Amino acid sequence: MRGQKEHRSRGGPRGLPTDFRRGFEEAYAHTNYRELPWFSPRPYPWLVQALDSGWIVPPGPVLDVGCGAGTNVLWLARQGFRASGVDLAPSAIAAAERRMKRARLSATFRVGDVLALPFRRGAFQAALDVGCFHSLPIARRPDYAKELARVVRHGGSFLLSWVAREETGKFGPPHRPSVVEIARTFEGAFVIERIQYAPSRSSRGWPTRGGRLAQYSCRLIRRSTPQPPLK
Ligand SMILES: C[S@@+](CC[C@H](N)C(=O)[O-])C[C@H]1O[C@@H](n2cnc3c(N)ncnc32)[C@H](O)[C@@H]1O
Repeated sequence: MRGQKEHRSRGGPRGLPTDFRRGFEEAYAHTNYRELPWFSPRPYPWLVQALDSGWIVPPGPVLDVGCGAGTNVLWLARQGFRASGVDLAPSAIAAAERRMKRARLSATFRVGDVLALPFRRGAFQAALDVGCFHSLPIARRPDYAKELARVVRHGGSFLLSWVAREETGKFGPPHRPSVVEIARTFEGAFVIERIQYAPSRSSRGWPTRGGRLAQYSCRLIRRSTPQPPLK
């Protein structure tokens, strides 16, 4: 599988501990990806909106971090983007590659850690995260922001979605970032252009079962010049 060797050699002290990786890998290795609670066969609605409104335009290149089984990457490829996806779970990437072959699409999938991305500086015009950032340990959030700022070009777009602090149900990640936490983490390298909120829908909770967790989606632009200091 492409990228797996690089993943092993680059994980090191910059990446996440083995136990953390294992949880996601086990989920994908032991469950059909279609049965995973976060899986959707349809592209993320706020991603579709970003394209429809011209906020992101083909051909990119665009990166989906924590791409899982690749729904958003494959949809972007279908829209004419040079699309890449990275995920730390090898079984997720294997599923994404199988789906790509079945659909006769062209995209790049890599096994890798968002904290040590296997891509060069400024490789992407746009990036996307649906549900990866909020699963990281709180202490690693600044490292995540640094890596995203490294691979997204100055002036490039970054669409970030996460389960909202307002979500009080038992499903979802343990650390649900507030808007203030997002601003603190990203404002140094990104301008925050727009934040949208969608409350939870249905008590069953998960998108694939007719519900939705309360969530935020944020449009960010990679700064070309540093944020001005406080006067
Ligand atoms: C909630 S799932 C969302 C998957 C996909 N974005 C979707 O919407 O179907 C979170 C994904 O992030 C991946 N992930 C978590 N931490 C990661 C990291 N440090 N680097 C890369 N991927 C990571 C997991 O393996 C998992 O596939």
